[in-house]
Amino acid sequence: MANSTDGGPLAPAGGGAVTGLLHPGEMGAAVGSVLRASGRMVLWASSGRSAESRRRAELAGLEDVGTAEELSRRVDVIVSVCPPHAALDVARSVAGFQGIFVDANAVSPTTARELAAVITAGGGRFVDGGIIGPPPAADNPTRLYLSGTDAALIIGLFNETPVAARVVSDEIGAASALKMVYAAWSKGTAALLLGIRAVARAEGVEPTLLDEWRDSLPELPGRSLGAARSASTKGWRWVAEMEEIASTFAAAGLPDGFHRAAAWIFDRSPRLERGQADEQTLDEVLALLPQPGHRPEAH
Ligand SMILES: NC(=O)c1ccc[n+]([C@@H]2O[C@H](COP(=O)([O-])OP(=O)(O)OC[C@H]3O[C@@H](n4cnc5c(N)ncnc54)[C@H](OP(=O)(O)O)[C@@H]3O)[C@@H](O)[C@H]2O)c1
Repeated sequence: MANSTDGGPLAPAGGGAVTGLLHPGEMGAAVGSVLRASGRMVLWASSGRSAESRRRAELAGLEDVGTAEELSRRVDVIVSVCPPHAALDVARSVAGFQGIFVDANAVSPTTARELAAVITAGGGRFVDGGIIGPPPAADNPTRLYLSGTDAALIIGLFNETPVAARVVSDEIGAASALKMVYAAWSKGTAALLLGIRAVARAEGVEPTLLDEWRDSLPELPGRSLGAARSASTKGWRWVAEMEEIASTFAAAGLPDGFHRAAAWIFDRSPRLERGQADEQTLDEVLALLPQPGHRPEAH
C-alpha cells in the first residue's frame, strides 16, 4: 500500500491516501472526479469494463492500473461504487486487500455484513457506506453516510470536496440501512405512482383521478410525470436496489411486497437516454405496464 504508517493507512488525515475507485459509473466517476479535484490520487481498473466507463474515468482524471488485483496492491482505500447486484463480486475481486474497503452501494444491511466478511477474511478493514444525493460536483453536493469502527477514518478523505461524509454509527449495516429506508420512500413512491396511474388508466378513471388530485393532492400529477422520467432513464438500474430494500423489510419482519412490486415496475420501464424523456414518457412507461384491454374479473 502507498501510505501505510504506524498510524494506519489514513493517518495523514486522509489527504495522502491513494484511493482505488471500483468502478467509474455515473456516481463513481463523479466521486473520483471530486477526489482528483481536491488533489488526491485515484486509481481504477479497466479490465472488463465498457468503453463508457473508460471515457468517464479519463474525463475524471483517474489512473488506470488494469486489474482490480493490481489496484488492491497499490492503494490505501478502495471505494466500491457499482450496481448493487455487483457489490459482492467487486469485493471478491480484491479479496486479500489489506487496506480499508468502503462499500458505498445501495445494498441491504445483510448484504453489507456479507461484504464485510469477504474483506475482513482477507485481512482488510471494512466501512459500510450509502450515498444519498446526486453525483457530486462543485455546485452539487451529496452525502456519504458511513458506519463501522473505521468509519471516522474516511471523513478526512472527503475534506474539501462536495461529498459530505457523515458517520452514522460504529455498526456495519447502519449506513446501508439508512440508504435503504431513504430510497424505500424516494424510489418506492415513484413506482407506486406509476402503478396507480396504470390501474386508473385500465379502469378508465384516470382523467377523474387527475381532477381529484388537482383539487386535493396537487403535487401528484407533476410527481407522476417525474416518476416516469426517472423510471425510463434510471429504472432498470433500480431493480436490484428495490430487491435489496425488499430484503431489508423482510429482515425487519415486515412485508417485502411494496418494493418487490417497485422492482417489477422498474424492470418493465423503457430504457431512454436522459435527454429523450419528455411529456410523452409517462404514456411510454404505462404502455409497458400490462393494463391495455385489462378488465377486472367478475366475482
Ligand atoms: N447515479 C446516482 O445518481 C446515484 C445516487 C446515489 C447512489 N448511487 C449508488 O451508486 C452505485 C452505482 O450507481 P451508478 O449510477 O454509478 O451506476 P452505473 O452508472 O450503472 O455504473 C456502474 C459501474 O459499475 C460497473 N459495473 C456494472 N456491472 C458490473 C459488474 N457486474 N461487476 C463490476 N462492475 C460492474 C459499470 O461498468 P461497465 O458498465 O463499464 O461494465 C460502471 O462503471 C449504486 O450502488 C447506486 O445505488 C448512485
